[in-house]
Amino acid sequence: MEEKRRSRGWCGWFLVLIVLAAVAFAIFYAVKQKMHKSDSGAAPVPGPPGAVTKKYADALKVAMQFFDIQKSGKLGNNRISWRGNSALDDGSQARLDLSRGMYDAGDHMKFGFPMAFTATVLSWTILEYGDQMKVVNQLEPAQDSLKWITDYLVNAHPTDNVLYIQVGNPKTDHSCWERPEDMKEERPLTQVNTSSPGSDVAAETAAALAAASLVFRTADSAYSTALLKHAKQLFTFADKYRSSYSQSIPEVQTFYNSTGYGDELLWAASWLYHATGERSYFEYVTGKNGEDFANWGSPTWFSWDNKLAGTQVLLSRVSFFGAKDIANSDVLQKYRESAEAVMCGLLPKSPTATASRTDNGLIWISQWNALQHPVASAFLAVIYSDYMLTSRTAKISCNGNNFRPKDLRKFAISQADYVLGDNPMKMSYLVGYGDKYPQYVHHRGASIPADATAGCKDGFKWLKSKDPNPNIAMGALVGGPFLNESFVDSRNNSMQTEPSTYNSAVIVGLLSSLVTTSSVVQSFT
Ligand SMILES: *[C@@H]1O[C@H](CO)[C@@H](O)[C@H](O)[C@H]1NC(C)=O
Ligand SMILES: *[C@@H]1O[C@H](CO)[C@@H](O)[C@H](O)[C@H]1NC(C)=O
Ligand SMILES: *[C@@H]1O[C@H](CO)[C@@H](O)[C@H](O)[C@H]1NC(C)=O
Ligand SMILES: *[C@@H]1O[C@H](CO)[C@@H](O)[C@H](O)[C@H]1NC(C)=O
Repeated sequence: MEEKRRSRGWCGWFLVLIVLAAVAFAIFYAVKQKMHKSDSGAAPVPGPPGAVTKKYADALKVAMQFFDIQKSGKLGNNRISWRGNSALDDGSQARLDLSRGMYDAGDHMKFGFPMAFTATVLSWTILEYGDQMKVVNQLEPAQDSLKWITDYLVNAHPTDNVLYIQVGNPKTDHSCWERPEDMKEERPLTQVNTSSPGSDVAAETAAALAAASLVFRTADSAYSTALLKHAKQLFTFADKYRSSYSQSIPEVQTFYNSTGYGDELLWAASWLYHATGERSYFEYVTGKNGEDFANWGSPTWFSWDNKLAGTQVLLSRVSFFGAKDIANSDVLQKYRESAEAVMCGLLPKSPTATASRTDNGLIWISQWNALQHPVASAFLAVIYSDYMLTSRTAKISCNGNNFRPKDLRKFAISQADYVLGDNPMKMSYLVGYGDKYPQYVHHRGASIPADATAGCKDGFKWLKSKDPNPNIAMGALVGGPFLNESFVDSRNNSMQTEPSTYNSAVIVGLLSSLVTTSSVVQSFT
């Protein structure tokens, strides 16, 4: 007994020694690599998540709740007291279960194009900042909300070349003002297929599913494999049958008119490259399709309609962290330079700074849903800044003026702080955060008491009511201020007081990046 125990002890100590030696070697090697790579003047690489900034952690916890408010279908672990099951029969006329997914905004439409974009951005956020979300207990809720959308998108793709892109008829939906739980109207389905294709919506859905396949890769590998399979099929469909869905189905132009599909093809191929590592997807973006669609060197605004800036940042990741043979590609360099041009446009002191700002420095591009662009831009800026920090890239040059990662982060913080109340209205545009936020959010569910019985038409009394919303649309990021920085808190002012699910994706991304010390993983896999 004694002898045996001792020999086991020795064996154990020997293993410990080997492990210690391996650890010491790994540390030595990592430090050596870092010193080798270090470029003069680069800040040290931030460590793992450090101290939490309470303001952004609180705001993130609020922002995440809007996804729960927007959920359609049978709610499991429902955290919102005034929400219940709804739209349980969506898809039934095609023998599909399209009950999940999320309502688009203050209405009850399921618009596939922006919904897929929401899933892509939420996946991207989890991939870059999952460790930071985890520190403040938001990682699991984010994965849960993401799956709520990807379950829907998978079911909306029943065969290779058919994708359901809409549930509900916007005219019918908008002529009612009722709670989703009380809806009784027809919920027609709209599809793209080989005779009416939609490369933009199919490619965005492919991007969402490819990105989500990375999110679920270790936690649920069977689900991840299924997501990737749908992503590849949808990308092939999008690429082979080329058309904008707005041209195939002109009715969609009224709400989410797509101005082109080239950006989504590149975006989807970039996500598929990250998800599979297959060279063909890299060649897709660096070959002829890049020349046709990438529009290198011209900065654009990242939005549900235009994915070019996002693609440029995502491909810069390959330039910063990818294997040498690929990272040094000349064409990849063009994407990275284009991403830098976007960054230079955002930095307020850059010689190429955009003039599209309010007096107090908020990026301002459009009167409708004004906050989508500053928040999405700030999200890209902070990601780019973190790529620079993690790769020890000291600076970018904007027409000869140098800027550091901290300048980009400062810009991102300025936009986040504006949204959270540092603005002339002294109001938080994130509902539920701070002491003063919009009370008349344009949102059917929030505006009608949960115990009211209101049908399609009589519900309009709640739209017209002079009282504030009875339910707080926690986490809603409303449309936001005018160029003159005023804001009219009125329920029928949908231009300013309507939130959207895709706004939530970008604000959740931005806040997750600011919760604690900045850093990103070098590889998604
Ligand atoms: C293809 O999609 C169009 C547009 O949604 C639709 O009108 C048409 O019926 C679909 N084709 C088939 C065979 O279902
Ligand atoms: C939709 O976008 C296309 C392409 O940019 C444009 O030609 C068309 O006029 C737009 N439709 C509407 C209703 O705005
Ligand atoms: C601010 O701009 C809006 C929209 O253009 C306008 O309706 C409003 O009167 C302006 N307010 C002030 C104080 O100038
Ligand atoms: C709300 O605004 C819309 C569009 O501006 C208008 O058609 C509608 O009559 C308004 N409804 C109420 C109740 O004020």
